[in-house]
Amino acid sequence: MPSVTSLLHERFGSDTDSPESGECVQSVHQQLARRGSVRKFRPDAVPDRTLRRLCALALCAPTKSDLQQRDIVIVDEPSLRAQILGPLAEGPLGQRWLVDVPNLLIFCGNNRRQRRIHALRDRPFANDHLDAFFNAAVDAGIALSAFVIAAEADGLGVCPISAIRNEPIAVSRLLRLPDHVFPVAGLAVGYPAEEPKRSMRLPLSVTVHRNAYSETGLDEAISAYDLRREMAQPYSTQRSWKEFGMAKSYGWSEDKARQYARAERADFGQFVRQIGFKLD
Ligand SMILES: Cc1cc2nc3c(=O)[nH]c(=O)nc-3n(C[C@H](O)[C@H](O)[C@H](O)COP(=O)(O)O)c2cc1C
Repeated sequence: MPSVTSLLHERFGSDTDSPESGECVQSVHQQLARRGSVRKFRPDAVPDRTLRRLCALALCAPTKSDLQQRDIVIVDEPSLRAQILGPLAEGPLGQRWLVDVPNLLIFCGNNRRQRRIHALRDRPFANDHLDAFFNAAVDAGIALSAFVIAAEADGLGVCPISAIRNEPIAVSRLLRLPDHVFPVAGLAVGYPAEEPKRSMRLPLSVTVHRNAYSETGLDEAISAYDLRREMAQPYSTQRSWKEFGMAKSYGWSEDKARQYARAERADFGQFVRQIGFKLD
């Protein structure tokens, strides 16, 4: 088994030297350093009691002011799962792997309960602004992350699915999400049928700052990362090549620039306002 230090070195490049930790911590760190998203699963479903335990573990994660503004919807009705994921697998930009997802969870932000508490306690809700949405969205993301860690520790494979927000109204209708409850991301869960790839990350010199934010050496670091990644994990296809042509050298920054040259979910803000949030 490779050491945590060597796994981190492989992902981030050369600036991650750190002392090895104790045995128990080591296995958690090892798991995090080795992890990768899984998009190919065995067909068998994960038992409900396992999913519920993982949900409980995920909901042990920190939550803003103990407000607990996040919920998880377990979608175990196969036709409902197909209605949610089917459309996302279709078309030229469709994600085919979604058709065979054996277990689907939807992580939601929930600011509705808080508003209900104000009605029950007869207190004014004086925080009807961006924070109401933001805190619930962050809470849902934290719970998602905790679920990922707990599930991967159990030997399961997972992959988040932001594509469920492509059609937020349709997904909300299918799951009967009321106002002030919104989907943040889906999570595919199952027994892995592939060894996950450990995708490389930007070096810590770019993403970890000391005392003050800094962009010193950013452009050079991105170029070096592009090169490092292209050598070790080249993209198998070039995104939108009909529009942008075939590049001789195709790294991470070219892929991400091409991806976001197209609008994605530009109507999400409108949906969030539609379900009652003020975003001022
Ligand atoms: C909020 C969120 C949404 C994501 N949505 C998708 C998605 O719709 N489809 C997909 O294939 N991967 C999705 N991913 C997985 C990322 O593509 C993946 O985490 C990233 O490429 C890094 O790879 P790794 O998780 O294997 O390290 C999502 C990840 C996150 C955190």
